Amino acid sequence: MRTVAITGAVAFGASLMIFALSLDTRLLGDQSGYKPAQPIPYSHALHAGELKLDCLFCHTSAENSRHAGIPPLSTCMKCHETVLNRAGTSMGKSDPSPDIQKLREAYASGRGFEWVRIHRLPAHVTFPHSRHVRAGVACQSCHGEVQGMERVEQAMALTMGECLACHRTENQKQQLAGKPAQAPTDCSACHH
Ligand code: HEC
Ligand code: HEC
Ligand code: HEC
Ligand code: HEC
Ligand code: HEC
Repeated sequence: MRTVAITGAVAFGASLMIFALSLDTRLLGDQSGYKPAQPIPYSHALHAGELKLDCLFCHTSAENSRHAGIPPLSTCMKCHETVLNRAGTSMGKSDPSPDIQKLREAYASGRGFEWVRIHRLPAHVTFPHSRHVRAGVACQSCHGEVQGMERVEQAMALTMGECLACHRTENQKQQLAGKPAQAPTDCSACHH
């Protein structure tokens, strides 16, 4: 009797644990806060914040295609052929900093960097950047204040609920202005 009760309890405990683990894997699907290190510490706070470079200067395809795109190192080299280190550091003007040295070598070798991808939707979802950017939805409404980030961090969870919440709000605004709704809520618009 006793062993049966114990085995039963252990089995029940184990199944609870498996249930908890599967819950955990679901929660891991929410990637907000994900902030991986990159091959070199490229700073948006410096380039898009202090130096005020436009997002589209580097993410050139956000306006015209599905993907925003990561710039090739030739975009960086437009400046870093001559900018070799941060102003006010002890390095001489002609000494590249270790990070700029790494950048120049990766460029010269043609290998580039393997940037760690941060935002990624599951394959069954279509997300077109161009439609959002051309409708005037700011990058920041989905990606947060990137121009203040030393290292990019995922701001939105990118769940279906978040997509739909904005689509409904945007459509209500359109309707109040007497215009047709533009942001789809039908399944096939986002799922193939
Ligand atoms: C000088 C070029 C440059 C400018 C300007 C720039 N970015 Fe980036 N961006 C990069 C590079 C390189 C990466 C990849 C490395 C990283 O994640 O930091 C990146 C990564 C990102 C990512 C993460 C992509 C992923 O993997 O999910 C987002 C989001 C982003 N940028 C948004 C912006 C926004 C918004 C602006 C304007 C406020 C901006 N960027 C301006 C070069 C740039
Ligand atoms: C429009 C010009 C411009 C572009 C384009 C640009 N940078 Fe810079 N970058 C600068 C300037 C200017 C500084 C130095 C700012 C200072 O003096 O503090 C700098 C600083 C840096 C630093 C820190 C330097 C150090 O001392 O280690 C790194 C790393 C860097 N950039 C990487 C990149 C990468 C990677 C790209 C391309 C994705 C890029 N930059 C594109 C102008 C640019
Ligand atoms: C309406 C929300 C939204 C807006 C606005 C938005 N993004 Fe994104 N962004 C996303 C989503 C969602 C992903 C992931 C897409 C995927 O996995 O297919 C993403 C991915 C990215 C990536 C990763 C690489 C790629 O090519 O997709 C970069 C870089 C990026 N966005 C930059 C930007 C920039 C720059 C802007 C403004 C010009 C912008 N985004 C506007 C939601 C948005
Ligand atoms: C505005 C875009 C959008 C619309 C419209 C939309 N979805 Fe989604 N859906 C998403 C995104 C993004 C995800 C992935 C993130 C997540 O799982 O929340 C997703 C995930 C899902 C998943 C997978 C959930 C899981 O656990 O992996 C199912 C099933 C789904 N959607 C069904 C539907 C159905 C049915 C409709 C129509 C009633 C619909 N979706 C409409 C964007 C959308
Ligand atoms: C901050 C608000 C906002 C968020 C968040 C947002 N969208 Fe949108 N979306 C819009 C607006 C506004 C439009 C209508 C654009 C227009 O007027 O053409 C739109 C349009 C679309 C379209 C229609 C494109 C077409 O060709 O008809 C798709 C698909 C879409 N969104 C998918 C998504 C998915 C998937 C997500 C979540 C990952 C998402 N959106 C998150 C505002 C948003």
